[in-house]
Amino acid sequence: MIKRLMGMMALVVAVGLIAAACTGGEGATGAKGEKGDPGERGAQGLPGGSPSDSELSALIDQALAGTPATAESIAKGGRLYDKWVKEAGVTQPGGDQTLWALQTSNVRTGVDTYRCKECHGWDYKGIGGAYSKGSHKTGFPGVIKASATMSKDELMGVM
Ligand code: HEC
Repeated sequence: MIKRLMGMMALVVAVGLIAAACTGGEGATGAKGEKGDPGERGAQGLPGGSPSDSELSALIDQALAGTPATAESIAKGGRLYDKWVKEAGVTQPGGDQTLWALQTSNVRTGVDTYRCKECHGWDYKGIGGAYSKGSHKTGFPGVIKASATMSKDELMGVM
């Protein structure tokens, strides 16, 4: 019995030695694999809402930064006044702008109802200007006076 055990142990040692002797050096690094498939589309974002206070504040900061207006900044302001949703690259808000329900003369719906110019007019005069009549009439006030007299905090309050 002991002899058989010793024999087995010798065999185990011998196999171990052979195995150790057989282990070669590490092979060369393999070729780089193929590029994987593109990942899945991400989940849809939350429904858009009105811009947050901080987004508005940043836009107003930009407008009131104190640096002299440049042709570029004036053009940007114009584009914001026209379609701020598009210019600021924010998610398009759904439904009509809340204040829109205060009037019935302008029957547009959806994203147009968020355009500053739709309520306050291209001439900033609102009811006192070109939009005092016609399909764009809302009866809403102009912003021309506010643009000259209101502080950033007052403007934030209005928004
Ligand atoms: C849905 C219509 C609507 C849209 C869109 C709209 N406004 Fe107005 N806005 C109003 C109304 C109505 C008032 C008056 C609120 C009041 O008197 O309480 C007002 C008031 C203001 C005032 C204050 C005017 C004052 O003399 O007190 C400013 C400034 C102003 N809006 C700027 C903007 C800007 C800038 C945008 C675009 C980012 C905009 N509004 C988009 C309806 C709108």
